[in-house]
Amino acid sequence: MRLLVTGGAGYIGSHIVLELLKLNHEVVVVDSLAAGNEKNLFKEASFIKGEIQDNKVLKEVFQQKFDAVFHFAAWKAAGESMLYPEKYSINNINGTMKLLVAMSEHDCKNIIFSSSAAVYGTPKYLPLDENHPLEPENYYGFTKLMIEENLKWYEKLKGIHYACLRYFNAAGYDPEGKIQGIEKTTANLMPIVMETASGIRKEFQIFGTDYPTSDGTCIRDYIHVSDLANAHILSMDYLIGNKKSLIVNLGSEKGYSVREMVDISERIVGKRIPYSITGRRQGDPPELLASSDKAHHILNWRPKYSDPELIIQSMWNLYSKIS
Ligand code: UFG
Repeated sequence: MRLLVTGGAGYIGSHIVLELLKLNHEVVVVDSLAAGNEKNLFKEASFIKGEIQDNKVLKEVFQQKFDAVFHFAAWKAAGESMLYPEKYSINNINGTMKLLVAMSEHDCKNIIFSSSAAVYGTPKYLPLDENHPLEPENYYGFTKLMIEENLKWYEKLKGIHYACLRYFNAAGYDPEGKIQGIEKTTANLMPIVMETASGIRKEFQIFGTDYPTSDGTCIRDYIHVSDLANAHILSMDYLIGNKKSLIVNLGSEKGYSVREMVDISERIVGKRIPYSITGRRQGDPPELLASSDKAHHILNWRPKYSDPELIIQSMWNLYSKIS
């Protein structure tokens, strides 16, 4: 099949490109390289450099006909979205709407959308299933929710089927070490811990040790990016095979605290990773945990690599080389 991957040079996008190429699909990547890393461009995939908001770029992209679009091109730092919402309105919302309109004009009927557990907001119960109320607490989560709502309308009015994949905490790198580019800028815990271990940063901060959890730090559900990649392939097959849309959580269903993740990291890298403790970060719920029951049943998806040791080892394999 011929497949378009927006943001295909980025952290999650490049892992999906890798899987699609393994399956011999014809892949076109469009990426502005504002956050994407050139090292993550594979010669087997065609590459168009540019923003999806740019009409000229969209025109060039859609000269070809695609069986499905994987849409990753978006900003993703929840904290930043509260300070600079305009950046998120323009890139995440406007960008996706332009893409959807172009898909509609060029008769492309399937989109796999990179959504987020941020659509739920602070959990009212755990584990979070897909029926949990949708009350995002940051603007980033709101942009994802707004896009999900638009996808429902475009299905109804234009027959575009969607898979909204609500990721929990994506981490890790492909176990075969084929992805060589680290994230250019990141606000997430695990890449920051790895940057500190490799000497790119002097130290990192733990945001809050007074949460109502066993060790006082926040608990998250870490899901290996290669498991996410596999779920994208299964979702594409589902959309095309069943001509039906899909909304699923993607998490490991296991929770680890910030301190636990740091302890495991220190064990794996074999040294202390310097950190200091500071106050809570705004908008961090004490605990997030997925129910991925729906993905297990509908997609027959099971995480294989999401054990924290495997996640961290796969990251250290890459970060240790750039120290
Ligand atoms: N943290 C630190 N220090 C840091 C960075 C993070 O202590 O330097 C803590 C955070 O306070 C939080 C935990 O590590 O308690 C995880 O934080 P991340 O920023 O890595 O991830 P979030 O849980 O905030 O958000 C991520 C994605 C969202 C997604 C969410 C779903 O960025 O898109 O997981 O679980 F919605």
